Amino acid sequence: MESKFVKILAFLALVSLAIASKECCAEIKNDDGKECIFDSSCHEKGKCCPHKDLVGMVRQNYKCDIDCLLVQQIQLELRASYLYQGYASYFQRADVSLPGIQKFFAHASVEERNHAEYLIEYVNKRGGHVQIDQMEIQKTCEVVQKATENDDSGLDKGMEERMCICGFVSPGGIRKINRDCKFKRDQWMEGLMAFEDALAVERFVNKKLLDLHKTADDLGDAHLTHLLEHEFLEEQIQAIYELGLYVSRLRSFAPKNSKTSRNSNYKLGEYIFDQDLSKRLDKKKED
Ligand SMILES: [Fe+2]
Ligand SMILES: [Fe+2]
Repeated sequence: MESKFVKILAFLALVSLAIASKECCAEIKNDDGKECIFDSSCHEKGKCCPHKDLVGMVRQNYKCDIDCLLVQQIQLELRASYLYQGYASYFQRADVSLPGIQKFFAHASVEERNHAEYLIEYVNKRGGHVQIDQMEIQKTCEVVQKATENDDSGLDKGMEERMCICGFVSPGGIRKINRDCKFKRDQWMEGLMAFEDALAVERFVNKKLLDLHKTADDLGDAHLTHLLEHEFLEEQIQAIYELGLYVSRLRSFAPKNSKTSRNSNYKLGEYIFDQDLSKRLDKKKED
């Protein structure tokens, strides 16, 4: 009698497991028809992968689609952090020497990493499963470059110099990242180009957060919409505004119809801007 009871319990457990995996396996094949268990290409295509170890004891109203999107967002934050670390390193070089811009990107890098850590903790609290993918800086640059082309942002579309600086902070070379990038490093308006890139990155991150918010709303995930509204969206708007101010300031030093920095007053303007930014960031640190 006792063993019959155990068998029934085991059967019920199996059935509930099957139902749970079905819910979580709405889409288990990628475009090549391959199963995509723990396949990052599925995450990139926004498809839901069957996770083997979602944590049932805490998971409640937490859909697999949301888990996939959150993992994508974590990877995006980590990639932004990595990109900004590369920019910070570039501006610290002796032959570039823009300490204010270096500090800005070093701080931005830490901030993005904090966002990733915050979301990792959140996924674990909700009973999800964070899979850490490969960190490909070139992919970030390519994705942002592409997204800018479809973004009605008022940023110049198809800018030849968009993400050019990525080529210098990653080993792939400029052309590999952006075929249209024909500028040599000594022709870049370094600070301006870096802030224009960062503005494109932050707009892209914001779009992804808004997409995530919409999905969470559609799926009735009130906790996630609340978190996004209170912890992420406001900060994102502030970041975009701040970068917009820096881009405008630096553009005002760039002569019209000129895409090059040398032989212009751009360098002087950039120097003053950098000094001012450095002082402001130091003061912010003290407060
Ligand atoms: Fe972020
Ligand atoms: Fe950000």
